Amino acid sequence: MSTERVALPGLVDPHVHLREPGATQKEDFETGSMAAIAGGFTTVFDMPNNPEPTVSPDALKKKITLTENRIYCDIGFHFGATASGTEYFEKVKDQVFGLKVYMNHTTGTLLMEDSNELQSVFSNWPKEKPIIVHAEGQTLETAINLTRLSERRLHVAHLATGEDLEMVRRAKEEGQPVTCEVTPHHLFLTQVDVDELGPFGIMKPSLKTERDRLALWKGLDMGVIDMIATDHAPHTKEEKSTKKPPFGVPGLETSLPLMLTAVAEGKLTLDRLVELTSSNPRRIFYLSMESETYTEVDLKESYLISSSNLKTKCGWTPFDGRRVTGKVVKVVLRGETVFDGENIIGLPNGKVVYSAE
Ligand code: NCD
Ligand code: ZN
Ligand code: ZN
Repeated sequence: MSTERVALPGLVDPHVHLREPGATQKEDFETGSMAAIAGGFTTVFDMPNNPEPTVSPDALKKKITLTENRIYCDIGFHFGATASGTEYFEKVKDQVFGLKVYMNHTTGTLLMEDSNELQSVFSNWPKEKPIIVHAEGQTLETAINLTRLSERRLHVAHLATGEDLEMVRRAKEEGQPVTCEVTPHHLFLTQVDVDELGPFGIMKPSLKTERDRLALWKGLDMGVIDMIATDHAPHTKEEKSTKKPPFGVPGLETSLPLMLTAVAEGKLTLDRLVELTSSNPRRIFYLSMESETYTEVDLKESYLISSSNLKTKCGWTPFDGRRVTGKVVKVVLRGETVFDGENIIGLPNGKVVYSAE
């Protein structure tokens, strides 16, 4: 079997749901950070839509405290927007990478729909830090208009359709400070896959058409898309098997191998992949580089993704059985090997990271 090992610099996943506190039957900081490391990521940014949402300095402090001596990768946080939370913005801004605004219905209770409240949230958030939106279609248009009015920075989470991509492309062309991310599931799956996956293929935004999927690849190629984000959103198999399955799929351990497969197939260059998973998220969210922190991958090694050997607590993946080319063989965090391609090694030496802005 041929091998070709290369080291990639400190990979970042800017959008994960590690579920602690409040939903640790799905995931917790230990298992979630192990999944990140096994997936090749040395830093992840955790989202605020917990059952007890991260919308106050106390809730944020609680999360930070819960990570102590328990995380295997570095973790940063995003703050959740609520109408009454604007008074906290100054206080928390140095502790988080961005403000998350939920403009469409999804997991959790953080939906914001009132336009006055949205305007107040946008105009109270500090200018230099991104406002991250869950916004699809019409609400994305609203978000871009709010960005224009408030002169804030916008980062569009999990962009999924050709139309939304076109909106972002136009905003960028206009000179608006807008950036965006796509998920591997929207790059590799379509609504056709839901037939087979059932509830395990249900997430927000939903899987789209083949045309949308191809548009996203074109967006990657043209440089409209700034980063890959897994939107790692684990739920238990039991929860997924109920009549009303919750939205979301895990992604930390499958993202890099899937993207490396695209590299092997000539769909994108390795340099572009590093831009999408390290340099761009670092630049856009002001995350500095740790010394001696890298992920070694074998570009030639081919294997089958399997639900049976994952570190994520939920223990399943919508990519079960898929052949990939490109494997994480070693992860080094601040000079220490923390993953050997199979096992997590050593103590949980991750730390909470803060934006350098
Ligand atoms: C996410 C979750 O479960 O927290 N679900 C999802 O389907 N993506 C929430 C979100 O990112 O919208
Ligand atoms: Zn979302
Ligand atoms: Zn999410």
